[in-house]
Amino acid sequence: MSHQPRIGVIGGSGFYEFLDDVTEITLDTPYGPPSHSLSIGTLAGRPVAFLPRHGRHHVLPPHRINYRANLWALRTVGVRRVLAPGAVGALRPELGPGTLVVPNQLVDRTSGRIQTYYDGEPPADGQLPQVVHVPFADPYCPLGRATVLGAARSAGWQPVDGGTMVVIEGPRFSTRAESRWYAEQGWSVVGMTGHPEAVLARELALCYTPLSLVTDLDSGVEVGDGVTQQEVFTVFAHNIDRLRDLLTDVVTTLPQDQGDCPCGQALAGTKTGIVLP
Ligand code: ADE
Repeated sequence: MSHQPRIGVIGGSGFYEFLDDVTEITLDTPYGPPSHSLSIGTLAGRPVAFLPRHGRHHVLPPHRINYRANLWALRTVGVRRVLAPGAVGALRPELGPGTLVVPNQLVDRTSGRIQTYYDGEPPADGQLPQVVHVPFADPYCPLGRATVLGAARSAGWQPVDGGTMVVIEGPRFSTRAESRWYAEQGWSVVGMTGHPEAVLARELALCYTPLSLVTDLDSGVEVGDGVTQQEVFTVFAHNIDRLRDLLTDVVTTLPQDQGDCPCGQALAGTKTGIVLP
């Protein structure tokens, strides 16, 4: 690796081909293996790391993804900014398939997923474990969000700035009643992988930005028959080229280092007991 990748993309398998000069790196982590080996390559001359969230052949359902290992592995190879494209269902009829939403809030409706690195384990030097509570009022990177929105607008998208992503446990889709209830709360989109990915990134002081592509109107939205897996995969595949182009623009615009980003200060004033890679 001639240059460390400062930007990492966690995405679907359709993103492989967008890197040049790819080297595959197989890593283990203190939390087990990540979803797959990391692809480290370049994009418009910039070093980028790519990790397929669900494994190379989409073998891992959302609740079986080792989110801790994935974020740890990215940080280990030098990543400080994470871009997270993903499919979501819309909870509002005006957010039709193909819409890009850049949420600014998140609601966790998952259950049983490990969502912290700071689990009360004693530090290596034998001292008492330190409790760590990271700030998470604003779960996403402000600079990452602004950069994605700007790049999307320049490329002719009409991205939606903000909104709440509710993350469900899955792997089933929501009932109509659940979906209507989410919509009534004022939430915008629903997905299955945005948590605990975002909070684990924050716990490692990484910048994290979701690029949520609407693939369907969720089951509670008045129009439509309810979402199917085939619909999600088809619409996502249909949009993969424009999403790849957008990621290329974002990678070339985003500063490589975290600079003054608050995300990099998430652990300020804490003693983690964990030495970050
Ligand atoms: N991912 C894509 N569409 C979804 C939906 N309707 N619900 C949950 N996750 C999704």
